[in-house]
Amino acid sequence: MTAADTPNRTEPMSPLTAVIDLDLPGPRISRHVYGHFAEHLGRCIYGGFFVGDSDDIPNEGGIRLDVVDALRALQIPNLRWPGGCFADDYHWRDGVGPRESRPRMVNSHWGDVVEDNSFGTHEFLQLCELLGAAPYINGNVGSGTVRETSEWVEYLTRGDDSPMAALRREHGRDEPWSVPFFGIGNEPWGCGGNMTAAQYTHLARQYATYIRDHGETAVTRIAAGANVDDYLWTETLMQALSGLGGTDRRDLFQALSLHYYTYNGSWSDKGDATEFGTDDHYVTMKRALRMRELLSGHAAVMDAYDPERTVGLVVDEWGTWWNVEQGTNPGFLYQQNAMRDALVASVHFDIFHGFAERITMANIAQTVNVLQAVILTDPDSGALVLTPTYHVFAMNVGHHDADRLPLTFKGTVPTLSVEGTDVPLVSASASTKGDTALVSLSNLDADENRTIVLDLRGRDVVGHSATLLNAPTLQSHNTPEHPDAVAPVEHTGVRSHPGGLAVDLPAHSYVTVSLHLR
Ligand code: AHR
Repeated sequence: MTAADTPNRTEPMSPLTAVIDLDLPGPRISRHVYGHFAEHLGRCIYGGFFVGDSDDIPNEGGIRLDVVDALRALQIPNLRWPGGCFADDYHWRDGVGPRESRPRMVNSHWGDVVEDNSFGTHEFLQLCELLGAAPYINGNVGSGTVRETSEWVEYLTRGDDSPMAALRREHGRDEPWSVPFFGIGNEPWGCGGNMTAAQYTHLARQYATYIRDHGETAVTRIAAGANVDDYLWTETLMQALSGLGGTDRRDLFQALSLHYYTYNGSWSDKGDATEFGTDDHYVTMKRALRMRELLSGHAAVMDAYDPERTVGLVVDEWGTWWNVEQGTNPGFLYQQNAMRDALVASVHFDIFHGFAERITMANIAQTVNVLQAVILTDPDSGALVLTPTYHVFAMNVGHHDADRLPLTFKGTVPTLSVEGTDVPLVSASASTKGDTALVSLSNLDADENRTIVLDLRGRDVVGHSATLLNAPTLQSHNTPEHPDAVAPVEHTGVRSHPGGLAVDLPAHSYVTVSLHLR
């Protein structure tokens, strides 16, 4: 009996067809949906991004240049920092001025280790400049003050001889930085202060008032939003903007966030990153696909208060969260990243594209050495490993700032019943930019190969090329010894078909098809 014969599956009789209207561009997919997140957590900053300027690893001002090069290749649009939970413990003045005289602090959320503040504001902004990424700085509402936040924004962005601008110059930086995104605390319903929605909303209004536009850039203030399906939290924040026109809203916040992680099992035992069974894979896919339900719910609440969609939804923490690798500090959240993680990423991007009207940013948690990292660095040799998730980001660069295309499946989408829910076994999205289009296709089936026919309408397709990300097993992953166990290759399984272009999708694979249009 093949997997297709199992009773809890539905299978189409003939190849599934994806109809794509190439001449009907929809909303723009912001490049910021491909954003990143770096917290003072485990080896994300220290050992990941930053090694200090006396290390043998090639660096500029202590920032690892191999990491910078790898991320530049992804054209990462933004980087969120310094947390996460750490942000609401962080006092920015401790991280400026001569490194040797910076005060220390305890990173009580993450491993209870001592933080020496050697990576602070100037180092972060230098990193963003090296990356060509927009800084997204998260302020401290949980244990900070309004004055502290206000002065940080002044320090960062003011050009004249104001007190904070003068202090910045004393510390070696003449020109202000452009900081287009500023977060008003993090997870205030939990680690950021255990607040109620009403309590936080009052504070968000107050803090937002003092996050001023000093320079040319109008800061997007991002209110800390809901945990998973807390729609009341979103509603409470949206009520604060209710009745305010666009200009008055400038004084408050222009976006709100959402956090949702994918894990297997329970919060206390989330499953292993590489030792898992086929059933675990399907549960993971079911949970990853839940992002669509969550975005529908939060977007519906936002639509009720903001039908013009001027307020952005920012998914500034998403990704897989597994049990830590054996022998590593449980507070460091270090996990491997397998072919399964790549599929979690690819379906998230399809879902984000589907909500392009509302989602203005998303940030994978986290970029290096923490949770669903795109880069892992070896603590002993320093070797850098690109994960399967990295390759999904690379294959999707063509979606940055492209216009979403309508994509509809014709025929029966194969599904598998997982814990009473029919989980689709394929996922897809498409976008266009000028005379190109990019189609993303995921086969979530652990065992079955599948062919999808692309029925391409509305414009002439004059050429195509395709890339395949696949591996022997869903558990396959990259290590310093085998850095290319999961790596993209040119895909030869694309051919003409009476209905369009037939694309072969091996079991558990991700494929992108680039089209050249006329
Ligand atoms: O990304 C790890 C942690 O997860 C973040 O610090 C926090 O915001 C979330 O709970």
